[in-house]
Amino acid sequence: MKFDTSKSYSFSFPTNIRFGINVVSELPAYLKANKLKYPLIVTDPIIKELDFFKRIIRLLGNEGINVTVFSEISKNPVKSDVIKGVSVFHDEECDSIVGIGGGAALDVARAIVLGAYHERDLFDYDDLIGGDKYVTEIVPHFVTIPTTSGTGSEVGRSAIISEDESKKKRILFSPKLLATQVFADPALTYDLPANVTAATGMDALTHNMEAFIAKNFNPLCEGIALEGIRLISENLEQAVNNPNETSRANMLMASMMGAIAFQKGLGVVHSLAHPLSSLLDTHHGLANAVNIPYGMKFNYPGFEAHFERIAKTLNLKEETGEAVVSWLFELNSKINIPHKLSAIGVKPEHIETLADLAFADFAHPNNPKPVSREDFKQLYLEAL
Ligand SMILES: NC(=O)c1ccc[n+]([C@@H]2O[C@H](COP(=O)([O-])OP(=O)(O)OC[C@H]3O[C@@H](n4cnc5c(N)ncnc54)[C@H](O)[C@@H]3O)[C@@H](O)[C@H]2O)c1
Ligand SMILES: [Fe+2]
Repeated sequence: MKFDTSKSYSFSFPTNIRFGINVVSELPAYLKANKLKYPLIVTDPIIKELDFFKRIIRLLGNEGINVTVFSEISKNPVKSDVIKGVSVFHDEECDSIVGIGGGAALDVARAIVLGAYHERDLFDYDDLIGGDKYVTEIVPHFVTIPTTSGTGSEVGRSAIISEDESKKKRILFSPKLLATQVFADPALTYDLPANVTAATGMDALTHNMEAFIAKNFNPLCEGIALEGIRLISENLEQAVNNPNETSRANMLMASMMGAIAFQKGLGVVHSLAHPLSSLLDTHHGLANAVNIPYGMKFNYPGFEAHFERIAKTLNLKEETGEAVVSWLFELNSKINIPHKLSAIGVKPEHIETLADLAFADFAHPNNPKPVSREDFKQLYLEAL
């Protein structure tokens, strides 16, 4: 997208990030310095049982900080999870919120930040119906600590929460929902299983690639996205198959870069992926991973110059969209992601509903080229 001389634009990169091995041990001192003694720690039921989580809770306890842990959240978080969390926040008279986890836990934490002092129904704040205008009250002090390298939700300003019944994804957004402080500690990702590393890493790659080619004008984000793509191309395979400190740290950095970059917009791949989570409870990253080669194949005709830059960044011999698509399929093979939707539970009878949901999704209006319902159907059929 070129600069339109008749328009003006706003850019914003304001998050405080502490990045490094063991930065999480700074959390107790940080809370004390901000006179916060009663944090609500929001996580998920699996992380709650992991050693690093118990160590963080011990560190806080040792410093006299009274912790309440809330971990009753769904794999793809729903509104009732958030409502429960808001009740616990008030019942325990908490003074701050610390999200520790992957995108699911961090999104619930962010939605509790919103719900704590905002009394309307949660989905009145849905950004797609202009709900951000109601985000007018104060919000609790909010700290995020990522434990996956994927969504980059720790640096985001939106939370994706589904309706309990329909599982439709709603998006809560406000600059007020940015974390005040991020502790991005690669050591927390060392024990991520290979399949989660692969799926979350492909989510980060999808953010960077879709942001780079998205319609909006934002050269700052484009620069960040290209560097995010480079880091992932050089580190994801290692982080999945033979992880070391460097590959884990680079993936954590690249995932934050993806989330910063996608203020510019996402596209067709996220719209293909979201309905899989709604309908079949597919993990968000896995849904993106399987769909990204097909989405990028759809996108490159007409956008050759964008793909030439991606191919250059990937150091491919042929600087074409086709070469980028082949590279995506090869990367998926190397990290054990299937090439076909049928391998992750999609059946022919799902296609019509998936196409309806994808067409109604919020991500594709920023895709470089328009995507019709028929395009979505064809893309699903091709990937099936
Ligand atoms: N807010 C945003 O901007 C944004 C962007 C993209 C996706 N999302 C949302 O994020 C969610 C997906 O997040 P995710 O991909 O990080 O996955 P996740 O949070 O669902 O975590 C995946 C799995 O890994 C486990 N896990 C997390 N950290 C671990 C660790 N260090 N060691 C071992 N296991 C660990 C979790 O318990 C879970 O079972 C979806 O709900 C999606 O809608 C949000
Ligand atoms: Fe994503």
